[in-house]
Amino acid sequence: SAVEVHSRTISTMETDKESIGSLKQQLAKLFEESLRAAFPDISDVQPLVAICNDPKNGDYQCNNAMSLWNKIKGKGTQFKGPQPVGKSIVENLPASDMIENCSIAGPGFINIVLARQWIAKSVQKMLIDGIETWAPKLPVKRTVVDFSSPNIAKEMHVGHLRSTIIGDTLARMLEFSNVEVLRRNHVGDWGTQFGMLIEFLFEKFPNWEAGSTPAIGDLEAFYKASKQRFDSDPDFKERAQKAVVSLQGGDEKYRKAWAQICEISRKEFQKVYERLGVHLEEKGESFYNPYIPKALELLNEKGLIEESEGARVIFIEGKKIPLIVVKRDGGFNYASTDLTALWYRLNEEKADWMIYVTDVGQREHFEMFFSAAKHAGWLPSNENDYPKASHVGFGLVLGEDGKRFRTRSTEVVKLVDLLDEAKSRCKLALEERGKAKEWTAEELDQTAEAVGYGAVKYADLKNNRLTNYTFNFDQMLSDKGNTAVYLLYAHARICSIIRKSGRDIEELKKSGAMDLAHQDERMLGLHLLQFPEIVEEACTNLLPNLLCEYLYKLSEDFTKFYTNCQVVGSDEETSRLLLCEATALVMRKCFHLLGITPVYKI
Ligand code: ARG
Repeated sequence: SAVEVHSRTISTMETDKESIGSLKQQLAKLFEESLRAAFPDISDVQPLVAICNDPKNGDYQCNNAMSLWNKIKGKGTQFKGPQPVGKSIVENLPASDMIENCSIAGPGFINIVLARQWIAKSVQKMLIDGIETWAPKLPVKRTVVDFSSPNIAKEMHVGHLRSTIIGDTLARMLEFSNVEVLRRNHVGDWGTQFGMLIEFLFEKFPNWEAGSTPAIGDLEAFYKASKQRFDSDPDFKERAQKAVVSLQGGDEKYRKAWAQICEISRKEFQKVYERLGVHLEEKGESFYNPYIPKALELLNEKGLIEESEGARVIFIEGKKIPLIVVKRDGGFNYASTDLTALWYRLNEEKADWMIYVTDVGQREHFEMFFSAAKHAGWLPSNENDYPKASHVGFGLVLGEDGKRFRTRSTEVVKLVDLLDEAKSRCKLALEERGKAKEWTAEELDQTAEAVGYGAVKYADLKNNRLTNYTFNFDQMLSDKGNTAVYLLYAHARICSIIRKSGRDIEELKKSGAMDLAHQDERMLGLHLLQFPEIVEEACTNLLPNLLCEYLYKLSEDFTKFYTNCQVVGSDEETSRLLLCEATALVMRKCFHLLGITPVYKI
């Protein structure tokens, strides 16, 4: 389509300008050279560069001197201790306008102060070349992010919302880092529940084959009703069990009924994805079904599969219960499908990193089949080697009562209802601020949506994903504290400073010079430059909350700068407007990576 072609052209344009790597990586490069020059006989030292915990000591530090000293002491070295080792590292640094000075502290820490002019120049260069030049470099080419993955005919619940939001952010961060991402929706479309659903469809909608999709309406209610029928009528139960066999055996009539039921669910799921702005490609459990026998045969050849109580299983070291791969009735299950999907992703899709986003309750399942794949030699035994499989677990969403989040009327909270409420609360707040008179109805609606949905996403992403968190509208929609509302407003305020200055930013980028003379300007500039390494860290550790922390700190640093440094009408107006623009740009990139739509006015 036209849109696709367009986005492809943009992305090739973007990669024309090569990413320069993170600040940390740039420093590491300098220290690597110096280590090689100062200690030519020692080849296996990697530069250890880290951020200074106490900014009073410097911006970054290099921690190689101590371990180097331990390596060479007593071996006839000319050095008398770790401090002289550190001194020699500093003396051998190649000339660079990046570093202002280095000092040795304590047992040989090298504290690094970056040059203010270099910080200014680097920020301005990004403004000209584009933020894509700040994309981190990751050691992977193609990843599969398996996320959202709801079950057909069942309601998408808050757990699936978490998976959708976290998975989308991880995918966005990897995509920004020039990694190819296969966004996989591993929907549960192949369980035994389909036998009863199909039989119930035949019973309730005898004309089901006539229309394209039967008027089931509420699929969840349909599921419940069919379950009731299944539990109470032995004849129905028997028919349902036979239906599963017919379906899995490929009977055309059953396949058609199954496809119709899936289609109804798919349409419902799609509504949620559209609202959240999340893109996914479905390859459900059924997709892997034809490949299962072959994948299991490969595991069998390796001697991994055993017979146990009539089932075929894989025993895993350290686990009492084995992984069942063929049930006693001969059917396949969740584990056989996941093992096969892993095989497919490795061999057919040639991915080098498989990332699975589900609640922590499923951790055991993932540990077990990852371990089986390692024993089979599908994955390397070392955790740090590629190809790699990672389970991204997350905690529960809790209600105000501290228990699993539910509403009074229904058991599970419907996602669409949550999004509706977030939006309407935002709209009300905007109306109370008199925006209904200032803005068009469309602007009001779009802003309410951006802020409302953004708030729901951010409230989830800002927590370490492993912890449970309490769902609270009042908190997440507050315009104070670490919320999307506060951050979106902060961004809009920066945009309005720039607008009101009346200056042409595009012109300033080229002609003006940045100079970060004030301490708070320098601090903000440095924080901006740390964006690539934060994205890198968030990707490597699969922790979106790191990006949220970065964004919140960015807005705090901006506030400090704006409080202490006059922008419009000052001698430094040009430089400071450029700093405002760079801040707004990085904030927008953060919003984008978090799946939040920025707003430009409030
Ligand atoms: N359908 C599953 C659920 O709702 C999640 C699937 C996750 N992905 C996977 N490859 N197992 O719990």
